[in-house]
Amino acid sequence: MRRNLVHPRAGELKYEIRGIVDFADQLEKAGIGITWENIGDPVAKGEEIPSWIRDIVADAAKHDLASYAYSPTKGLLSARTFLAGQRNRQANTTLSPDDILFFNGLGDAIANIYQWLNPAVRVLGPDPAYPTHSSLEAAHNGSVHPVYKLNPDNNWLPDMAEVRKQVAADQNIAGLLVINPGNPTSTIIPQGMLEEFVTIAREYQLFLIADEVYANLVYDPRGFTSLAAVAGGVPTMVLRGLSKEVPWPGARCGWVEFYNSADPIFARYRQSIEEAKMTEVCSTTLPQTVLPALLGDKRYEKHLQKRRERYAARANQALKLLDGCEALRTVPPQGAFYLSVTFSEDFMKQPVARPAANPVAQKLLDAALASMPADNYDKRFCYQLMAATGICVVPLSTGFNSSAPGFRMTLLEPDDAAFARTLQTIKEFCA
Ligand SMILES: Cc1ncc(COP(=O)(O)O)c(C=O)c1O
Repeated sequence: MRRNLVHPRAGELKYEIRGIVDFADQLEKAGIGITWENIGDPVAKGEEIPSWIRDIVADAAKHDLASYAYSPTKGLLSARTFLAGQRNRQANTTLSPDDILFFNGLGDAIANIYQWLNPAVRVLGPDPAYPTHSSLEAAHNGSVHPVYKLNPDNNWLPDMAEVRKQVAADQNIAGLLVINPGNPTSTIIPQGMLEEFVTIAREYQLFLIADEVYANLVYDPRGFTSLAAVAGGVPTMVLRGLSKEVPWPGARCGWVEFYNSADPIFARYRQSIEEAKMTEVCSTTLPQTVLPALLGDKRYEKHLQKRRERYAARANQALKLLDGCEALRTVPPQGAFYLSVTFSEDFMKQPVARPAANPVAQKLLDAALASMPADNYDKRFCYQLMAATGICVVPLSTGFNSSAPGFRMTLLEPDDAAFARTLQTIKEFCA
């Protein structure tokens, strides 16, 4: 090439959840059956879409304007009006349809949020975190994403005194990110702690981002508070979408709700995100067309309730099956559909050295391990687990920017016996 084509920050882009699939594909060719526990896609994992939802989507597909045309840049007014009304009723807010901006999934929203943020300023986010946030925040600035630690020994909650200390120490921190319910943690930030985030943001004149894509998949009896309900006057973006709760990840439909945009700098930043969307024209039309009919249908709440019960049951089953396993530690999931597992200190004193299931897989494993740092404990664990058993889980360190080593699996397996078998196999692998 005449010039170097590679963006100077290209190295920051990481998405191990899918990256690990390359190794899984090679193992599959070597005769290892793969149990896919890496991706949070309920549909791919076999969850059936109710026929009434399919019918609404199929009907919309018969109408040219509703499905095949561009939509307004911000999104269809009918969808934004529906969402604003629903949010104002639930969170006691005063969101207007104009405060909502649709994207092609939250992945697209997150990319725009960091791309159009002044490259010099930082958003302090959780560790561990959904990697699109941590990668793209790092890429926008060109250095390591600043994080506050979530403590697996305290329900994956942060130490708010630490958050405050970090904000006070770094003038460049202009925003705070919460992912609630958490991915990969599947735990919930209680209302009191959200209020502490708001207090810090108000005191230091920061803006807030709350990724609440799993908000309607909470099964903890204490419930869930949206940051929108407690943000007071602090400039806030709440991220929601259809991917996880319909579930319809293939729709690529998510949206940002902007609260408290009076601050002129925040307003200008918000405007730049809207203008960036305008250069893209608009987001996918069909999911927006059907959104009010789907989310407003009287069967929708029952549908969500059934799913919440299923994940809660899976979470209980997982905790019971892993009970007594000296090597692994778990935190009871409270929402979403993940189980993050960390290792006991004793277990990590010994390097994992397990043989692959056959000689070809062993060769692949040896080559993969040779390219990994010796102290990348959880990634080495996950690759060995996969080569030995076919179970594909995601290391917390490289998959979720986590300082605590471990792995994330899902609670999505529809078959009871298959789920039990997966956990039993993991337990035996660690024995
Ligand atoms: C916390 C979180 N935010 C955003 C997304 C992206 O969702 P979307 O399918 O809307 O791009 C995910 C996907 O797993 C997620 O877990």
